[in-house]
Amino acid sequence: MKILITGGAGQLGRDCTTVLKKSHEVTPVGSKALDIADRTAVNAFVKALKPDVILNCAAFTRVDDCETEKEPAWKVNVEGPKNLASAAGARGARMIHISTDYVFDGKKPVPDHYTETDNTHPISYYGLTKLEAEKAVCEETDRYSILRTAWLYGINGRNFLKTMLRLALGDPEREIQVVHDQFGSPTWSYRLAEQIATVLDADVNGLFHATSEGHCTWYELATTFLDEMEVPNAFVPCTTRDYPTPAKRPANAILENQRLKDEGLNIMRDWRTDLIQFVNLFKLRLIGGVK
Ligand SMILES: NC(=O)c1ccc[n+]([C@@H]2O[C@H](COP(=O)([O-])OP(=O)(O)OC[C@H]3O[C@@H](n4cnc5c(N)ncnc54)[C@H](OP(=O)(O)O)[C@@H]3O)[C@@H](O)[C@H]2O)c1
Repeated sequence: MKILITGGAGQLGRDCTTVLKKSHEVTPVGSKALDIADRTAVNAFVKALKPDVILNCAAFTRVDDCETEKEPAWKVNVEGPKNLASAAGARGARMIHISTDYVFDGKKPVPDHYTETDNTHPISYYGLTKLEAEKAVCEETDRYSILRTAWLYGINGRNFLKTMLRLALGDPEREIQVVHDQFGSPTWSYRLAEQIATVLDADVNGLFHATSEGHCTWYELATTFLDEMEVPNAFVPCTTRDYPTPAKRPANAILENQRLKDEGLNIMRDWRTDLIQFVNLFKLRLIGGVK
């Protein structure tokens, strides 16, 4: 199949390109080649390329900045997916869109999880835009799959793990506070790319949760990662109240891949298993990237 990947230079987009090009004809594009918020440009690009599938990995992902940069966030996160889904619908192409755990308010008690049928209630502007995008995609086409993921990390792009590594290597004795009362499922972008490939091959429609199995806090994630990396640190747990951010985050962002399991498609593993494999593969590159 011919697949257009928007956000092709991003963390997930690059892993999707690596995975999908093994069995498909893939065209990854960054924002310079195609601004997804530009409806005319999207229509012209899709008309020229004639893709069978549009996979949207593009988004305004700086969650805190979304609180103050509302207009650009809306354009990229809502109008972008709407334009792509509309162009996909007009061509009869499949649309695959990536969404987030931040569509929930996180008020369920841990370790309860959220399934695809739970009510949404975003508590940040980022979460609101991502939820509006889900609605826009469903309105524009019937041939869509939306995968909600969470706490993404990978070898390409910015992410929490790289920030933690930089801080620990910068000064192993500096006490760094890391939030220990928000729970989620850290998800390796490469594994998610493989999960997207299975959804694509199965040609299934609708909404799917797609995160690693199991859950932890940001503090547990940071310290587990640094232990695996054998990087000493003086990280200490703190509460959300100790570490205020412009955008609110759900305290419980644990997603259950219920629909993937029901369809026999879930390939996600325990978050620790993937984290260990990630470190084994990329330890030297990760340390080299900081220096
Ligand atoms: N990161 C997470 O923890 C997380 C968690 C849950 C869900 N998600 C979702 O997962 C998806 C992938 O996230 P990611 O971590 O791979 O993000 P990322 O590394 O920030 O990549 C996003 C990409 O979007 C592109 N983009 C931004 N504005 C654009 C525009 N107007 N037109 C076209 N492209 C544009 C950027 O391209 P250029 O660099 O070319 O400008 C960037 O490479 C997103 O939908 C995100 O909401 C992420």
